[in-house]
Amino acid sequence: MTSPAFESLIARASALARDDASPADCVLALAPSMLELIERATTFLEPRHYQSDPDHYARHLVYAAPDESLSLYALVWSPGQWTPVHDHGSWGVVGVLEGVLEERSYLRQSPDRAAEEGIRLARGGVTLLGRGAVTSFVPDPDHIHVTGVPPQRPGAVSLHLYGRMMDSFNTYDVSAGTRRRVPVAHDSGGIKR
Ligand SMILES: [Fe+2]
Repeated sequence: MTSPAFESLIARASALARDDASPADCVLALAPSMLELIERATTFLEPRHYQSDPDHYARHLVYAAPDESLSLYALVWSPGQWTPVHDHGSWGVVGVLEGVLEERSYLRQSPDRAAEEGIRLARGGVTLLGRGAVTSFVPDPDHIHVTGVPPQRPGAVSLHLYGRMMDSFNTYDVSAGTRRRVPVAHDSGGIKR
């Protein structure tokens, strides 16, 4: 299923990728498109994109660019489901369709951004993203965070557009001070164009 808002966002994002636009320019241009898209989610999302998983937050691929320069996912969060502490190594634009998505940021205190160990992270701010909210991030320095929904709040559904296929991300063990790249294995599959 497609809609003008969906086609418009993909066309705009594809043009930016083709022009090798900077991450900051990508999120600046695409955040307003995401705002429009979340108002029209029912015109292109299907019931399967809203399905939750009892074991972890559910991740449904909605769109993957043929050259893998873009990916759009619908994420479904049940109460109490969280990501690990992670960064994406990519720019991203996130819009909230249902519920309140919580993001807790971490600030890297150790100077070597490439280090896989000896990483010191401090807890940073908390952002509560209600229905209709759009947020974004750029890499370098990486945006390190956990995202999810606390047990006491209803579940949430969000759209996530990234500047690459998000089939792996960096996860952090805060107390051990380590980072490692892990595959993101729980894609449910989706529309390939
Ligand atoms: Fe994230």
